[in-house]
Amino acid sequence: MIVVEDVHKHFGGFHAVDGATLTIETGSITGLVGPNGAGKTTLFNVIAGVLEPTSGRVIMDGEDITGLPPHELFSRGLLRTFQIAHEFSSMTVRENLMMVPGDQSGEALWNAWFARHRIASEERALARKADEVLEFLTIDHLSDEKAGNLSGGQKKLLELGRTMMVDAKVVFLDEVGAGVNRTLLNTIGDAIQRLNTERGYTFCMIEHDMDFIGRLCDPVIVMAEGHVLAKGTIDEIKANEQVIEAYLGTGLKNKAATA
Ligand SMILES: Nc1ncnc2c1ncn2[C@@H]1O[C@H](COP(=O)(O)OP(=O)(O)OP(=O)(O)O)[C@@H](O)[C@H]1O
Ligand SMILES: [Mg+2]
Repeated sequence: MIVVEDVHKHFGGFHAVDGATLTIETGSITGLVGPNGAGKTTLFNVIAGVLEPTSGRVIMDGEDITGLPPHELFSRGLLRTFQIAHEFSSMTVRENLMMVPGDQSGEALWNAWFARHRIASEERALARKADEVLEFLTIDHLSDEKAGNLSGGQKKLLELGRTMMVDAKVVFLDEVGAGVNRTLLNTIGDAIQRLNTERGYTFCMIEHDMDFIGRLCDPVIVMAEGHVLAKGTIDEIKANEQVIEAYLGTGLKNKAATA
């Protein structure tokens, strides 16, 4: 579904992404792991059109999508969530979800004059859709709560919910489980799995929690220092010496070599 070909992203002289090449297969839940600063979020930003790569290409379903703006990618079904949740805190949870679809007639003043009935019925349909999403995520009891009052974990669920308001094909999750308690983490994990099997979503998820990754993801891709170090099942990754070294840091490796 997604092919990343030799992507580089430099910030001045610093190579945050340094020749990353990887494939995300249609229908997979692909994990993306690696030490802090490995370039994972930067690579997501390149794929999602937030950052222009210094060089390299991103292909979706055989088409070059490099440098397309986020709204263009959104309309092709490529969505992402943020490492820090982006909710509209003074709006309710339901209203937050209703903000997502981009082509509502109500947005044009013209339509506001001439098509009041249609707008009202579109709004009802959106509210229904939002309620379905909240039920799916088992947070329907929070529909009328201000999003700003949600816990960190509930905000992450809301982020996931935003991807369900449109027909997503491939969703990029940046640390959707970070700082989330066990119960909510299970809810998020179940939702991801069901979206994958029941609705055919392809996922690529950045996560530091290896148990969470192990439960959901196959394959797992490891990034270090801006490029892909390894790809395999969670067990292969855990047993891979290069991966272990990358996590321990080169300091340890050098000490071992000189000892
Ligand atoms: N806009 C920027 N300008 C300069 N350097 C940046 C910028 N964005 C990221 N970096 C640097 O690029 C490197 C990769 O950052 P990135 O956020 O992609 O890492 P990450 O793998 O997502 O890490 P984490 O697991 O901590 O979220 C880091 O050293 C970071 O400081
Ligand atoms: Mg990151």
